[in-house]
Amino acid sequence: MTPHQLYIFLGLLLFSLHGAPPCSAAVNDTLTAGESLAVSDKLVSRNGKFTLGFFQPSFVTNSGNITSPNWYVGIWFSNISAFTTVWVANRDNPVTDLQLNQTRLELSKDGDLVISSNASIIWSSATVANTTTVTTMNTTSVILANNGNLMIIGSSPTSNVSWQSFDHPADVMLPGAKFGWNKVTGATIKYVSKKNLIDPGLGLYYFQLDNTGIVLARSNPAKTYWSWSSQQSSKAISLLNQMMSINPQTRGRINMTYVDNNEEEYYAYILSDESLYVYGVLDISGQLIINVWSQDTRSWQQVYTQPVSPCTAYATCGPFTICKGLANPVCSCMESFSQKSPQDWEVGNRTAGCFRNTPLDCGNTTSSTDVFQAIARVQLPSNTPQSVDNATTQSKCAQSCLSYCSCNAYSYENNRCSIWHGDLLSVNSNDGIDNSSEDVLYLRLSTKDVPSSRKNNRKTIVGVIAAACIVCFLVMLMLILLILKKKLLHASQLGGGIVAFRYSDLRHATKNFSEKLGGGGFGSVFKGVLSDSTIIAVKKLDGARQGEKQFRAEVSSIGLIQHINLVKLIGFCCKGDKRLLVYEHMENGSLDAHLFQSKATVLNWTTRYNLATGVARGLSYLHHSCKEYIIHCDIKPENILLDALFTPKIADFGMAAFVGRNFSRVLTTFRGTIGYLAPEWISGVAITPKVDVYSFGMVLLEILSGKRNSHKVCTDDNNSNQVAFFPVTAISKLLEGDVQSLVDPELNGDFSLEEAERLCKVACWCIQDNEVNRPTMSEVVRVLEGLHNFDMPPMPRLLAALAI
Ligand SMILES: *[C@@H]1O[C@H](CO)[C@@H](O)[C@H](O)[C@H]1NC(C)=O
Ligand SMILES: *[C@@H]1O[C@H](CO)[C@@H](O)[C@H](O)[C@H]1NC(C)=O
Ligand SMILES: *[C@@H]1O[C@H](CO)[C@@H](O)[C@H](O)[C@H]1NC(C)=O
Ligand SMILES: *[C@@H]1O[C@H](CO)[C@@H](O)[C@H](O)[C@H]1NC(C)=O
Ligand SMILES: *[C@@H]1O[C@H](CO)[C@@H](O)[C@H](O)[C@H]1NC(C)=O
Ligand SMILES: *[C@@H]1O[C@H](CO)[C@@H](O)[C@H](O)[C@H]1NC(C)=O
Ligand SMILES: *[C@@H]1O[C@H](CO)[C@@H](O)[C@H](O)[C@H]1NC(C)=O
Ligand SMILES: *[C@@H]1O[C@H](CO)[C@@H](O)[C@H](O)[C@H]1NC(C)=O
Ligand SMILES: *[C@@H]1O[C@H](CO)[C@@H](O)[C@H](O)[C@H]1NC(C)=O
Ligand SMILES: *[C@@H]1O[C@H](CO)[C@@H](O)[C@H](O)[C@H]1NC(C)=O
Ligand SMILES: *[C@@H]1O[C@H](CO)[C@@H](O)[C@H](O)[C@H]1NC(C)=O
Ligand SMILES: *[C@@H]1O[C@H](CO)[C@@H](O)[C@H](O)[C@H]1NC(C)=O
Repeated sequence: MTPHQLYIFLGLLLFSLHGAPPCSAAVNDTLTAGESLAVSDKLVSRNGKFTLGFFQPSFVTNSGNITSPNWYVGIWFSNISAFTTVWVANRDNPVTDLQLNQTRLELSKDGDLVISSNASIIWSSATVANTTTVTTMNTTSVILANNGNLMIIGSSPTSNVSWQSFDHPADVMLPGAKFGWNKVTGATIKYVSKKNLIDPGLGLYYFQLDNTGIVLARSNPAKTYWSWSSQQSSKAISLLNQMMSINPQTRGRINMTYVDNNEEEYYAYILSDESLYVYGVLDISGQLIINVWSQDTRSWQQVYTQPVSPCTAYATCGPFTICKGLANPVCSCMESFSQKSPQDWEVGNRTAGCFRNTPLDCGNTTSSTDVFQAIARVQLPSNTPQSVDNATTQSKCAQSCLSYCSCNAYSYENNRCSIWHGDLLSVNSNDGIDNSSEDVLYLRLSTKDVPSSRKNNRKTIVGVIAAACIVCFLVMLMLILLILKKKLLHASQLGGGIVAFRYSDLRHATKNFSEKLGGGGFGSVFKGVLSDSTIIAVKKLDGARQGEKQFRAEVSSIGLIQHINLVKLIGFCCKGDKRLLVYEHMENGSLDAHLFQSKATVLNWTTRYNLATGVARGLSYLHHSCKEYIIHCDIKPENILLDALFTPKIADFGMAAFVGRNFSRVLTTFRGTIGYLAPEWISGVAITPKVDVYSFGMVLLEILSGKRNSHKVCTDDNNSNQVAFFPVTAISKLLEGDVQSLVDPELNGDFSLEEAERLCKVACWCIQDNEVNRPTMSEVVRVLEGLHNFDMPPMPRLLAALAI
């Protein structure tokens, strides 16, 4: 059945139904040639789902109800309490002088659908379709179909649809509508975002399929910010369908399709359950979103967004702003800047961005008094910078920026100096999803702006620094005491405590650092043997400053506590700028080697389960058994070491954070490893021990499957490098009751299904988006020990969105 035939069939169906006198006289789904719709009239689809009529866009803000003075003809969901338009006819030609008895929507005798006011034509379907010859069908009607498509159709059973709203969409794609292009005529279907929340006119972003694939782009200036090549289409559809099947709201109710033949190429989605309210929209910030109506919450729920971050679209917040993907609101002015046009910001139009509170000091040719403020972990501005090759130090780079009045910022990275003139666009904060930039931008500000802002922050900063200093001081004091004690006693081993080693001894023990066991982000680890034949692992920290930081973190956390599931620090060495840490040696290396690399030694199920429980106990001890929380911040298989008996030991406390019991929300610096990172790292707020719970959940899933959570999937089409995200599959399989298929096939079915289910359930609770929903480590230990049980976990929305 070709789509056209489908519409004929649909038309016939409507007509045959229409033959019977309508039971409720008030509404109709059809307008015949010569008839017109007045401002207060409506067309309603047969199933009651969609309504067509005149409307005024309005939008509720904190300060009240903003209503547009303009009128439009559009289609909306009849029954949804949140007024949602799915199509607008005259989006760029509003009715500005509405006259109740003059403004009409009329189907002319020649089959042209026209909006007119006071005898002047405001909009016509023929103009939109760019057809000079209007259909000369005898009797035509316009019908609002059950799927929300407005069709102009002849009454003869053989006549075709001459025009339909699905071919001329606004910003919304409904189920049954096509997204693609006609290979014969070359006509493409293009979805264009609205201008702002109350103006449905043509906005900045569009979404279309061309001969290379799907493109999400901005029109002025022209910039493509997301694309999906045609080669990936079948994979894309299967992933989308998989995602829809994971979500309980859409499972079995939506079917995504892709068609590519000689005539046309298009994507579409079809509802298997007519009672579902769903629409896809390209929103005003350039994100493609699929929304499903939730009757429980009486609101639209996003089931899919692309790009995942609202910051990815080009310059979505305007100049001199910072875009934070998971914050609310997403856009904010840079410090010491203010919104240029607050009224426009309120309706979602941020194109004007922000302006400086105090102008730069530029009149003096001798020297500018301006200063720079660092904005850390952002994507550098998208405008091309000027490279200053002769600025070989950071201060020279700053100086060269100051020498231009137009220079607003600089960056100095890898000995390269870049300076930006004019507006700074797309300065997006690291959100760990679409953007994990570690760059630092130095923003030029007037001195007048800076001291005041510093003062405001000073109190909290002082508090944090004071607390940190007390901890550091105590640790240093202890170290000094130890060193002094050692020097006095001339002994290297102190009963139970940690040892201060001489550098030469360690060099000797490691045979001049010859046997390398591994290397991390902060240094290398070498094997060594002490004179009493104790085998040790010596970590040599790189980089004077970073090394010092990590050294202190490690000594102050693991140096003070002991637990069977935490690696034991035997001692340390400080000599000059050299920082070394000495640990007990772990015969079986780190967990990642056993799980992912050497297939020779497959960890059996009992070992895996004991491993999981051991790591949980170690973390529980860190989180609950000390006066202060210790948050490890970097739980991953690489940091779980295994001794000769495969007892797990948590290692690498270089990123650990001390957080006093009533002091949980102070960390802002970014730590950890992508893939194991809890979403709150991304939002840059609230760091609690629950970040370790999240990472632990991710590790549990890897213990279960024996694979990295994000591993490449081999597909039929060789070009595809699609990455499947195992956690999403894991939750859906768990909910389906099929944990068996998740367990590492290398075990050949030799495992306890009950334990596997328990492990999977714990893992899925641990990786919930919201930290409040995650269990504490002590609860996790109880469940793994079989003393307690959890209910079935829900699918975390963010995780599901990340999966594509
Ligand atoms: C609905 O439209 C049909 C065709 O134009 C017309 O015959 C019928 O009277 C209309 N019904 C109402 C209630 O307006
Ligand atoms: C519209 O809402 C009413 C009551 O809220 C309900 O009775 C009716 O079934 C709904 N119609 C549709 C098509 O969902
Ligand atoms: C906002 O005002 C418009 C027009 O006055 C009205 O139709 C709409 O219902 C109002 N919305 C809210 C939420 O009050
Ligand atoms: C339209 O309404 C206005 C006042 O509401 C009246 O003055 C005018 O005569 C009407 N025009 C027609 C054509 O009915
Ligand atoms: C309607 O159109 C007539 C003729 O073009 C014009 O004289 C009249 O002022 C218009 N009425 C309004 C309310 O715009
Ligand atoms: C309309 O069609 C004419 C010729 O058929 C073409 O030249 C013109 O570019 C088209 N306009 C638009 C806006 O597509
Ligand atoms: C319109 O219908 C009439 C009567 O049904 C018929 O005589 C006439 O030929 C038709 N015109 C066209 C253009 O089909
Ligand atoms: C309907 O469309 C088909 C294919 O596009 C065409 O062959 C046929 O002639 C059309 N029928 C009418 C009545 O226009
Ligand atoms: C957006 O705001 C700017 C000024 O802030 C204004 O010039 C522009 O017309 C607005 N655009 C839209 C679509 O509202
Ligand atoms: C989805 O639609 C395609 C084509 O329309 C069909 O082949 C497939 O069986 C459908 N899948 C489901 C789950 O309904
Ligand atoms: C130039 O610098 C001097 C001294 O730093 C200052 O007094 C003067 O106001 C500056 N002029 C301008 C135009 O900023
Ligand atoms: C770099 O070169 C420019 C001219 O190309 C010169 O004006 C500037 O003073 C130089 N800067 C430094 C730091 O040498």
